[in-house]
Amino acid sequence: MTQTELKVVDSTALDVEVIRQDFPILNQEVNGHPLVYLDNAASSQKPIQVIEAVDAYYRLDNANVHRGVHRLSQRATDAYEGARDKVRGFLGAKSDKEIIFTRGATEAINLVAQSFARPQLKAGDEVLISYLEHHANIVPWQMVCEQTGAKLKVIPMVESGELDLTGLDELLNERTKILAIGHVSNALGTVNPIKDIIAKAKAKSIPVLVDGAQAVPHLVVDVQDLDCDFYVFSGHKMFAPTGIGALYGKQALLEAMPPWQGGGDMILSVSFDNTIYNALPYKFEAGTPHIAGAVGLGAAIDYMNSLGIENLAAYEHHLLDAATRKLEAMDGVRIIGTAKDKASVLSFMIEDVHPHDVGTIFDQQGVAIRAGHHCAQPVMQFYGIAATARASFAFYNTEQEIDALVNAIKTTQELFA
Ligand code: ALA
Repeated sequence: MTQTELKVVDSTALDVEVIRQDFPILNQEVNGHPLVYLDNAASSQKPIQVIEAVDAYYRLDNANVHRGVHRLSQRATDAYEGARDKVRGFLGAKSDKEIIFTRGATEAINLVAQSFARPQLKAGDEVLISYLEHHANIVPWQMVCEQTGAKLKVIPMVESGELDLTGLDELLNERTKILAIGHVSNALGTVNPIKDIIAKAKAKSIPVLVDGAQAVPHLVVDVQDLDCDFYVFSGHKMFAPTGIGALYGKQALLEAMPPWQGGGDMILSVSFDNTIYNALPYKFEAGTPHIAGAVGLGAAIDYMNSLGIENLAAYEHHLLDAATRKLEAMDGVRIIGTAKDKASVLSFMIEDVHPHDVGTIFDQQGVAIRAGHHCAQPVMQFYGIAATARASFAFYNTEQEIDALVNAIKTTQELFA
């Protein structure tokens, strides 16, 4: 579902003041001002439902998973595997075997680069990514290209912050062994038309990985409908704890891939002569996993589902539209990234003020944004800038907070006048 389609959903279906009570961290002052948290693309805040699920796990159920016959171990295993099933439902995957818990999107991409791509890449092959990628979807591919002699190719972008897809047919060729592409740009908010892009790749039997780190907090994702081979995301950007995320992979591909890391739980039997690996998904989960993180992720999914992801998306879209209109009307403010389809992110520059100064002055007014290259330096290089200021929204943000953003910009301009 695109953002444009989401506009038909009622953006007032959420009671944001009630929702905000679920997020205790929002109820505080910073530098004598009410906190205005607009750094959700870096990391989102956690509702009490997630905090309490993690707390209850440690208070009542904590033990190792898949190993013990005792009651606590069984409860911990049920909680962990229950969370896996929630992730499966959240992504619309067919089977729990297709859901691998990882530390986050970054680890999941590295897993695919090393276990899926590396064994088949050779000199002359190509790995295709896009200009809009976060470093997490660039560097693992550069590393695997260095290891194998394959070449990294890049889908270009245009001034609006959209991808230039005019040359995609040529970029997807017989040398392309994988396409790795972001669903939503973290630096600009561009929602890529990934369904069409995936269809083009699949028509040539090219496997596709989608980096969904910035998409899952804002859009309904259905991996079967997308028909991607791999989809990765991080929990902490979608109201869950840090250090937990997931890799979705089509079962046949995951079955054929060698393990990435060795250790406990990923084996069926070990001798000094031979090790037999465990079945999916455990083959890719060496060592004791982040059980509490998975439990928190499951609680975050329940929380989002209880509000309705379409409702969250529609409301955030309304906030983004309102903020965009207000910043567009301000002298000396330039919005970076004006794609037609955007989610959550508003990157901007204030004339004659370095974004790092913007971030510091905003903080003095209690407004938390990110200032920097957003781990997407090629995007910054495209615009010939080192950094932007970036406000990024979640469903607990309000129109009053957009006014606080506007006031923070005005104060910054006055200070530098
Ligand atoms: N990827 C995170 C961001 O966009 C850290 O801020």
